[in-house]
Amino acid sequence: MTLLDARKLVSKKVDELKSRVDKLSKKPSLVIIRVGDDFASGKYVANKIKKCDEVGIDSKIIHFDGDVKQEVVEETILNLNKDEDITGILLQLPIPKHLDEDYLTNLIEDEKDVDGFTIGNMGKLSLGLESNVACTPRGIITLLKEFNIEIEGQDVLIINRSNIVGKPLAQLFLKENATVTIAHSKTKNLKEKIVLSDIVVTAVGKANFLRADDFKNNTTIIDVSINFNELGKMCGDVAKEDYDVLVNEKQCNLTPVPNGVGQMTVIELIEQTIEIAEKRERI
Ligand code: GUN
Repeated sequence: MTLLDARKLVSKKVDELKSRVDKLSKKPSLVIIRVGDDFASGKYVANKIKKCDEVGIDSKIIHFDGDVKQEVVEETILNLNKDEDITGILLQLPIPKHLDEDYLTNLIEDEKDVDGFTIGNMGKLSLGLESNVACTPRGIITLLKEFNIEIEGQDVLIINRSNIVGKPLAQLFLKENATVTIAHSKTKNLKEKIVLSDIVVTAVGKANFLRADDFKNNTTIIDVSINFNELGKMCGDVAKEDYDVLVNEKQCNLTPVPNGVGQMTVIELIEQTIEIAEKRERI
């Protein structure tokens, strides 16, 4: 089977999105709010801004010091909600502990919530209604469809129960008529569940957490994690030295890290921003 490398799909999508932006009367604009100096967040935000430039949409970072007061972030979000020139708002997570993450995330207007994280958007998704959808789950479904991987009727195991990945992704798989199991740190007999699954999504955050022996032949493995191994190299949860056995001997499909799911998250964010702009212009 194959390594599900996202790079070709991303460059095809960049071209498609550029022409969608050209058709709009006003350029979409994305504002990213970042608090503090978390190293990984800095990298993710830089990737998002770079992709906005590539596609030709406006973007801006509002960067607060790690000790910023809750009221300052609140006021910023409320002003951005009101600002007609802003298409989408994103609060990069995690934020420092003295700030109320749930409250601030929910302060973003549903329509401008490009992450799909508000109660309104998550609620609509759970009810099967049209909504903004979390970008990593969106990207995973797009990638599976691009590679013509069957979803309907498949046994899907998601090893993650977060609001960003596991929960919204379970909803998207249900919408595609898959049978979904969510596993987490307290799950019993995880290995038995992995070996019975047709599609395994892992977002555990531990290098070498999964090995080739853990999977049955023909499994599709979606590795969401971005970890760094003892040599400082980026890797996912699946051991890199097992990629060859998984793809060539066990006939598995596998998203590599890097160049897999991470690339998809960013392009889906840009696409969702453009979708919001398109909807606004249709009104
Ligand atoms: N932190 C890690 N992933 C994400 C994401 O998709 N959106 C936001 N806002 N923060 C994140």
